[in-house]
Amino acid sequence: MITQLCYYKKDKNQKNKEKGEYFMNTKEQKVDAKKIREEVKETYAKAISRKNPSCCCSLEETCCSTKAKDIGYREEELNNFPADSNITTFGCGNPLAYSEVREGDVVLDLGPGAGLDLLIAARKVGPSGQVIGVDMTEEMITKAKENIKVAGVKNVEVRKGLIENLPVESSSVDWVISNCVINLSPEKEKVFSEIARVLKPGGRMIVSDMVGENIPEWLRENKSLYSACISGVVSEKEYLSGLRKAGLEKVKVSERIVYQSDELESFIKSSPEISKDIKRIVKEQDIKVASVKISAYKPAL
Ligand SMILES: C[S@@+](CC[C@H](N)C(=O)[O-])C[C@H]1O[C@@H](n2cnc3c(N)ncnc32)[C@H](O)[C@@H]1O
Repeated sequence: MITQLCYYKKDKNQKNKEKGEYFMNTKEQKVDAKKIREEVKETYAKAISRKNPSCCCSLEETCCSTKAKDIGYREEELNNFPADSNITTFGCGNPLAYSEVREGDVVLDLGPGAGLDLLIAARKVGPSGQVIGVDMTEEMITKAKENIKVAGVKNVEVRKGLIENLPVESSSVDWVISNCVINLSPEKEKVFSEIARVLKPGGRMIVSDMVGENIPEWLRENKSLYSACISGVVSEKEYLSGLRKAGLEKVKVSERIVYQSDELESFIKSSPEISKDIKRIVKEQDIKVASVKISAYKPAL
């Protein structure tokens, strides 16, 4: 059982929540961060190794997403891949939709999973550009490499590593993209500062991710719902202030899809460890979870 998933120091919880700050700096929390990442890794290794890997968690019912088309991918983006066009997505949006990624750009994808966004980015940047993915799960990296090979693209590379400590040179990428990954990090401020470090001055970030409000402690402590992109979320306000604190500017939310209470209830209820009266609690505690698209900019020198 995870003991400390909360992003606030307990004694300062309410005060800091109001200020939009969060903490993951104590020794105890660092130990737990490692443990949390191991659990997330195990879940995604299992998920991609399944015969029909449509779910992102250990339970068949608690899924981040099902089909690419359901989370905003257009037909033309999915068609004409020499690779299997049913590349599994564990995302919660389509970060590259309507983005201004241009030919020749360098794109870095945080946690690319099986690689759908890597291939979409490769199409946008063309042979003169470069696409890099960084993922910590060996099984996901293997699957992404298979998909890249079948697609026959030469300028896409997947590196093994953590998004909290990117194996990427400073000021080297034009774009950081990510799809439903940062919510899974127990050390979000490290991720935000790594994004700011690797972006070239004038570079941009555009991510699809999950955020939430009023997430109670018992929900934060739920392992399978953590990997299902629910329990590890921070609020939109905290997310935006974390990016600003890392030095990024023009931070904004361009899309927001709030889960309907019925969807959220069925999600939470599907975890066997939870046997509470979910419907009533979700309503009473005003628990909210949303998929958002967030963009930011690293100021030019
Ligand atoms: C929800 S899946 C999203 C995959 C992909 N972006 C997509 O849209 O299908 C999360 C992915 O992020 C990776 N991941 C999670 N936390 C990570 C971390 N701290 N460092 C590196 N990779 C991480 C997992 O291994 C997994 O491949």
